Amino acid sequence: MAIRIGDTAPDFRAVTTEGTISFHEWLGNSWGVLFSHPKDYTPVCTTELGEVARLKPEFDKRNVLVIGLSVDPLDSHAGWAKDIEETQGTALNFPLIADSDRSVADLYEMIHPNASDTLTVRSVFVIGPDKKIKLTLTYPASTGRNFDELLRVIDSLQLTANYSVATPVNWKNGDDCIIVPSVSDEDAKEKFPAGWKTVKPYLRITPQPNKANV
Ligand code: BEZ
Repeated sequence: MAIRIGDTAPDFRAVTTEGTISFHEWLGNSWGVLFSHPKDYTPVCTTELGEVARLKPEFDKRNVLVIGLSVDPLDSHAGWAKDIEETQGTALNFPLIADSDRSVADLYEMIHPNASDTLTVRSVFVIGPDKKIKLTLTYPASTGRNFDELLRVIDSLQLTANYSVATPVNWKNGDDCIIVPSVSDEDAKEKFPAGWKTVKPYLRITPQPNKANV
């Protein structure tokens, strides 16, 4: 069955470029991003892995552990990692699962047989500290993902988790947010000391809580 938002992220043990891990234990209390690549030594994947390595400090700042997956063995990953460093200018600095038996790819339904019987699509799962799935994304093999967008979504998810706000269309970090409908005006007085603007009773705009001047 497909993995959906709100489901518990399936746990697994896997061999990675940084040793064998048990996924939930490895995540600890952090947020997590699990993302798949169709295959080692492929051009789009090479650029993506270089970019995630470059963005690692941004994931660290947000308390997010990143882990990639490719259905190739560890020795293949080791050779490919050298190419990634050489061509993208950043060495791999996060684990890459060697899922040669496709057990994790199957568990997370990363192989879509009508696209390819053997390659994974570009799946992304964002997992919260409660081990629940917070976001899923699926891209085709031929389109590289936008990891700045992934950071933007993580910022939004973390604001919702910490401050009971949602984020409007095209929101960027620092922009105004929306008070979630489940918060009453009475409770909002305490939660949002910077105040809010009521455009409609269901549309209440407040400065981003962790940036507001109060
Ligand atoms: C790539 O990563 O470059 C790629 C992989 C499979 C199909 C097309 C592109």
